[in-house]
Amino acid sequence: MKILVTGGAGFIGSAVVRHIINNTQDSVINVDKLTYAGNLESLSSIESNERYVFEQVDICDRAELDRVFAQCNPDAVMHLAAESHVDRSITGPADFIQTNIVGTYTLLEATRAYWNTLSEDAKKAFRFHHISTDEVYGDLPHPDDIEGGTEPSANKPLPLFTESTSYEPSSPYSASKASSDHLVRAWLRTYGLPTIVTNCSNNYGPYHFPEKLIPLVILNALEGKPLPIYGKGDQIRDWLYVEDHARALYKVVTEGVVGETYNIGGHNEKQNLEVVQTICSILDSLVPKEAQYKEQITYVTDRPGHDRRYAIDSSKMQRELGWTPVETFETGLKKTIQWYLTNQEWCQHVQDGSYQRERLGVESLTTKEEV
Ligand SMILES: NC(=O)c1ccc[n+]([C@@H]2O[C@H](COP(=O)([O-])OP(=O)(O)OC[C@H]3O[C@@H](n4cnc5c(N)ncnc54)[C@H](O)[C@@H]3O)[C@@H](O)[C@H]2O)c1
Repeated sequence: MKILVTGGAGFIGSAVVRHIINNTQDSVINVDKLTYAGNLESLSSIESNERYVFEQVDICDRAELDRVFAQCNPDAVMHLAAESHVDRSITGPADFIQTNIVGTYTLLEATRAYWNTLSEDAKKAFRFHHISTDEVYGDLPHPDDIEGGTEPSANKPLPLFTESTSYEPSSPYSASKASSDHLVRAWLRTYGLPTIVTNCSNNYGPYHFPEKLIPLVILNALEGKPLPIYGKGDQIRDWLYVEDHARALYKVVTEGVVGETYNIGGHNEKQNLEVVQTICSILDSLVPKEAQYKEQITYVTDRPGHDRRYAIDSSKMQRELGWTPVETFETGLKKTIQWYLTNQEWCQHVQDGSYQRERLGVESLTTKEEV
């Protein structure tokens, strides 16, 4: 197959590209605008492979997309390009509307025009795989919200997001992703474009831009800086190692059923504070110093509209496509920390001076425009 991957220089996109080049005979056309979050260094291990091509293109640019489709004749699109950081979406939602909604619309139209030129067999075999997030579902009840504060039991487990959970996005980021999911499903229903949607929980792993919780905490800890905890740190996320996600996505694009949605998650529900404390104790053993890293933990004002709990039921992926994650949270986190310890150069290069791990997404609420 020739797979056109959008956002292939980002965190998850680069894991998908490395997975395809290293583990299959397929070719990849990586279409990426190279925003602050896109880094070609994340692809240095495969960039000279003859099955890999890079195109620096904005997915909002229809003429350039038409050129790439005509030149490359892909058999499938895996659409990961997006603005992806919730705090940035609070500070400046415009880029999220542009790339996540207008960009997805433009890509769908370019794909449809190309798809209409294919033979009937090629049309049937073609796939448009839209990669989305569990944040479109809003948030789930938290154990603390249960009456009387009782712990969930085997008889009364807490609910999980399933493929039929209704959409209730909370942030400009998740609302823009929800919009893009609706557009993708409408292009199947209205035009017959063979689409599939996946919604995944929080990813972590190597090559993660250090604005997100896990890499930010690792790097701040090593530099002796404060480790910011939003609110009480009791927000729950369901963590998945990025290479497990990449494997899942390849399975979906090659074996998934058109029109279906697949939820992908790691069955690793952790409170943010617990994640940070675990990173601190792993660092205590790997890079010991006089004081314990957890002493750097600092509580800061919570994120506006912060979702309390996400958790994914990924049993459909297991049942229908035979996918399960390989890494536990403990093994994945150790690998991730080791990676950051040995790839300080990558960390320095991606923080090009425009972002210094400062807090985003709260100060703007005090301005008239955002309130
Ligand atoms: N990170 C997570 O935990 C997570 C979880 C579930 C789903 N997702 C989804 O997976 C996808 C990838 O997430 P990520 O964490 O790798 O994001 P990322 O921010 O690391 O990377 C996004 C990539 O898209 C590119 N891009 C941005 N705007 C573009 C445009 N207009 N045209 C072309 N390229 C553009 C960037 O240059 C970058 O390479 C996103 O759609 C995101 O919503 C992410």
